Amino acid sequence: MKEINNNLHSSCEEKFEIKEVGALNKFVKNLFKTKNPDEMIENANKGGLEKTLGAFDLIILGVGAIIGSGIFTVVGIAAAGSPESVGAGPALVLSMILASLACVFSAMCYSEFASMIPAAGSAYLYTYATMGEFLAWIVGWVLMLEYLVGYIAVVNAWTGYLIQFLKGFPFLPAFITNPPVWLISDYGSAVSILSKQGIDPASVIPTFAGIPISLNLPAILITIFMAGVLIKGIKESTNMAGIMVIIKLAVIALFVFTGAFYVKPENWVPFAPNGFEGIFMGAFIIFFAYIGFDAIATAAEETKNPQKNLPIGIIGSLAVCTIVYVLVGLVLTGMVPINQIDTHAPIAHAMRLAGQDWVAGLISLGALTGLTSVLLVLMLAGTRILFAMSRDNYLPSILKSVHKKYKTPHIITILTAFVCIFGTLFLNISTAAELCNFGTFTSFIIVCVAVLILRKTDPERKRPFKVPFSPLFPLLGVICCAGLMIYSMQFLTTSRILFPLWLGFGILIYLTYSYKKQRKSENNE
Ligand code: ALA
Repeated sequence: MKEINNNLHSSCEEKFEIKEVGALNKFVKNLFKTKNPDEMIENANKGGLEKTLGAFDLIILGVGAIIGSGIFTVVGIAAAGSPESVGAGPALVLSMILASLACVFSAMCYSEFASMIPAAGSAYLYTYATMGEFLAWIVGWVLMLEYLVGYIAVVNAWTGYLIQFLKGFPFLPAFITNPPVWLISDYGSAVSILSKQGIDPASVIPTFAGIPISLNLPAILITIFMAGVLIKGIKESTNMAGIMVIIKLAVIALFVFTGAFYVKPENWVPFAPNGFEGIFMGAFIIFFAYIGFDAIATAAEETKNPQKNLPIGIIGSLAVCTIVYVLVGLVLTGMVPINQIDTHAPIAHAMRLAGQDWVAGLISLGALTGLTSVLLVLMLAGTRILFAMSRDNYLPSILKSVHKKYKTPHIITILTAFVCIFGTLFLNISTAAELCNFGTFTSFIIVCVAVLILRKTDPERKRPFKVPFSPLFPLLGVICCAGLMIYSMQFLTTSRILFPLWLGFGILIYLTYSYKKQRKSENNE
């Protein structure tokens, strides 16, 4: 009897184990479940977004997204350094070329995918097609760092330039030209600014129910405005971006041509005062200035003839920006000795030092305009990634609704605006920019790897654009991005901790919500 009982018991245990192993297998299989690119294209075609953009519109979108706070603000930190990193000095030009190399290899990989799978969602979708749903979710999640946290970095710089611009109108009331610090910054920045001035923050920052109130009001207002523009329509948005792009390119040209007369070649010596460390940290930091070309791929569903136009848009805008940056880098470091470069508004400041105040004023206006177009494109890209993720049942279904009249994803746009506003309450510009860089490097690395995987798993698929010299170029993309990311981590503090926290939070949401939602929708099919 005892023997029978024992046998029964062990057979139950075995069954239970088999069931457990089966469930685990199923779970792992689900994590790596890929989606057929044909299905993605079909989904995109019936997605309801209007196809209005041509190659030129895309280059405008790209340059609109790329040239912003990177070249107007961050360039000073890359050249002169910050408390957390040493500067590149005149070797900034090498840092720029290094950062653009990391981008160029990744841009080619983006182009191969974008021309093959022209659907909103970009890197997120490419990962879904190659490495399965879990990694796709992770990429979508880190792209939020790139676009939404990047947006927060840029909107911080935007407020700075707005105040600088308003100071040029002394007849305006003082609360506009010189607003209290708690109305134009997050709490942490307000405390640090006041402390530096020897003022007790508690004596200036008001409180409500014991909670200190410090918010970036101009950033909140421009974010609401941007969301309104994006809901109204993408074509209107790119028209607006077009005008802004022309203005910012014009002021940069003004800087380069006027500044060239003030270049003193002796300022270029010593060329690399901090050696390789300066050049690599400079490359990590100035990488922020290149972010945005990949945003073009998120507008794929709204592009006419995407197979041809997307690669032209992506590689074309990156080429334009690299030329512009190298010229600015050469002139800036040639005009101003490295220890006198300003890290808040380096370009306008260089012109002031040269006695060209009117040019400096125009540059502030151009910077403000340039930053506005970056804000527009970053928010656009963020909403399109979320749109693709909600269409794939990762997020609540309500988010995939498209506005009946304007044919834009209005609910997602409103949600995105809220998230950005919330972020401005806590993140300062440098932490936001570093986090944005980490997110972008991660997604670039995954896209480079994904190109190699799809070449193996689906070699017959039509590729209107192919990365040349594969696997060398995609591998170089991985090496450049991973190298800069890992190298910089040894010097940074806050962002190095926040990045893994963000990833962990994303994994938690996937496991507790999105995974289950996916399975539920599969059962309903
Ligand atoms: N590349 C963008 C900028 O520089 C993010 O503002």
